[in-house]
Amino acid sequence: MSEISNKRIYSAIQPTGMLTLGNYLGALRRFPALQDDNDCLFCIANMHSLTVRQDPEQLRERIYSLLSLYLAVGLDPEKSILYLQSQVHEHAELSWILNCYTYLGELSRMTQFKDKSSRHADNINAGLFTYPVLMAADILLYRSDVVPIGDDQKQHLEMARDIAERFNKVYGDTFVVPQPFISRQGARIMSLQEPDKKMSKSDTNVNNFILITEPREVIMKKFKKAVTDSEAEVRFDPEHKPGVSNLMNIYGAVKELSSEEVENVFRGARYGDFKMAVGEAVADALEPVRERYEALVSDRALLDKVLKTGSEKASEIARGVLADVYGKVGFPRG
Ligand code: TYM
Repeated sequence: MSEISNKRIYSAIQPTGMLTLGNYLGALRRFPALQDDNDCLFCIANMHSLTVRQDPEQLRERIYSLLSLYLAVGLDPEKSILYLQSQVHEHAELSWILNCYTYLGELSRMTQFKDKSSRHADNINAGLFTYPVLMAADILLYRSDVVPIGDDQKQHLEMARDIAERFNKVYGDTFVVPQPFISRQGARIMSLQEPDKKMSKSDTNVNNFILITEPREVIMKKFKKAVTDSEAEVRFDPEHKPGVSNLMNIYGAVKELSSEEVENVFRGARYGDFKMAVGEAVADALEPVRERYEALVSDRALLDKVLKTGSEKASEIARGVLADVYGKVGFPRG
């Protein structure tokens, strides 16, 4: 049995670039264990992806890629609802309503907005600013109880909770106030070359990240190059030893060991051997996922069918909740 049962679980990933080890350890890998004892929805957040410029053909491909990864890690469309955000129009509709219950001040405090607007200074669009409102709409539209995410999405989740509480206060119980579900290990995987920043799929330096679909040789090469420090001790100390601590965190997340247990495994080990062991552990974990992914990604008929069924199931829930919200705010039912 999973850690959580009898809940509605909701999470989403953007189909922007290939997914990294950070996405895998912080989110994706944790999804399948939840689907047996809960009612799960896993969304492909393509509407969120438009907040930065996308090539249409590439975006379309990446939707299939992400769906294939969902299936490759073991999500089962018979047990979980796997769907595409833009195919359920209620997301956009609820998002508009929630926009009217969200303040500019709270949006401007979002660290991801500050970060993304400095990286895309030529395209600080309104969507980038109101992005957390769409995310709140995603979650609240299904009356989700629990949201498995990495640490970087915690602030957005808190905002979704605030919006839900604010709306409920005005109109009576309408939304479930969702809880974040963040793992202890792997919640924040850092860059391999610059361990003071998050591992991100949009990074320009390819040595900073590991992609889920990368072959073993590439993974090993990147771990070999990973930054450590001038000491020679595998010790968990994120402030003074960010590189080594990040590698320990990765190893611990993959092997499900605490940082003390990881310290014990590598007591007295040389950095070179330690880095190779982390690389091997990651490559071993990702290899079966990559193999299943490759077998699935070109089966467009299957993928389209999964999306169609998933979107129909998601729409059915979304329709009911949106009708309730429309009724509450005073929009006549059609
Ligand atoms: P996205 O697509 O950036 O990332 C998907 C998931 O991966 C986690 N993650 C990480 N975890 C650990 N270490 C990292 N370096 C790392 N990088 C990413 C993220 O925390 C996330 O869980 N706004 C969301 C997508 C979204 C969503 C939602 C999530 C849209 N609607 C509703 C939950 C519920 C995002 O951009 O995630």
